[in-house]
Amino acid sequence: MLALEDEFGDILRKAMIGTRCDAQELSKRTGIDAKKIAAWARCRGSADDNEARTLARPLHLDPGRFEDSAAARWYPQGVDAPQVRRHAQLPHPSNGYVFLPDGGKRAALVDPAGSPANLLRLLRDGAYDVQYILITHKHADHCDAAADVAAAFPQAQIVMHGLDVHALGSLASKALLVRDGEELPFADDIRIRMLHTPGHTDGSTCYLLNATLFTGDTLFAGSVGGAYGDASTYDDILDSIRNKLFTLPEETVVMPGHGPPTTIAQELAHNPFFPRGVVQ
Ligand SMILES: [Fe+2]
Repeated sequence: MLALEDEFGDILRKAMIGTRCDAQELSKRTGIDAKKIAAWARCRGSADDNEARTLARPLHLDPGRFEDSAAARWYPQGVDAPQVRRHAQLPHPSNGYVFLPDGGKRAALVDPAGSPANLLRLLRDGAYDVQYILITHKHADHCDAAADVAAAFPQAQIVMHGLDVHALGSLASKALLVRDGEELPFADDIRIRMLHTPGHTDGSTCYLLNATLFTGDTLFAGSVGGAYGDASTYDDILDSIRNKLFTLPEETVVMPGHGPPTTIAQELAHNPFFPRGVVQ
């Protein structure tokens, strides 16, 4: 079982940075010792239910869900995605995926990263006919094997957003640039919808294939990616998720760039970054 990408301390730290509320300020607003808050934000120890609930309000987190995170009470359940094969991208801690639309060899690879030898072996062992290389964003743990995969599968179309594509170097000119909301043809009944979701990086993109959504580092089970954009912000990543992902059908399966799979329904019900009543 994959561990959740973010525990209580990670969520606390991201929300503190995002709302520009440091330990001193948070202490002032909640009466909780600043040293305890700073330690929790470094993932040392955890708050009790009352403390978590108290911290949630100034950070614009959902109190009940943040309590669940502090007590490690929630994990996504029952996610079924027969068309998806996940693989580790060692030495990175990220997830790579192969999407097989019709149970045959035709495939779309999501995020070519990690040891090229491992990845190429996996693709060749599966005898996959890679037609698309879909890249969620520019960080190395999501695209540093792009050149090797592109050389091995020269017919595959690389897809990436123009604001992140510079990470591919000389390969950038071969990429089809993401057009937000538009679709690419794939299998008979399956198209690839490109969703530009800035915030983690300026060019972060999610890809919807049928009822499966690949979210890169934009949305994780029970958390969101860090806001590392040059121009885009913490508010942008929350808006991207609220407006472009949480409006998808609730049964949509979410395959994140780190941590376990989840669904839109479970994130609507449990993600602490989206307080109850605000998105629904
Ligand atoms: Fe990333």
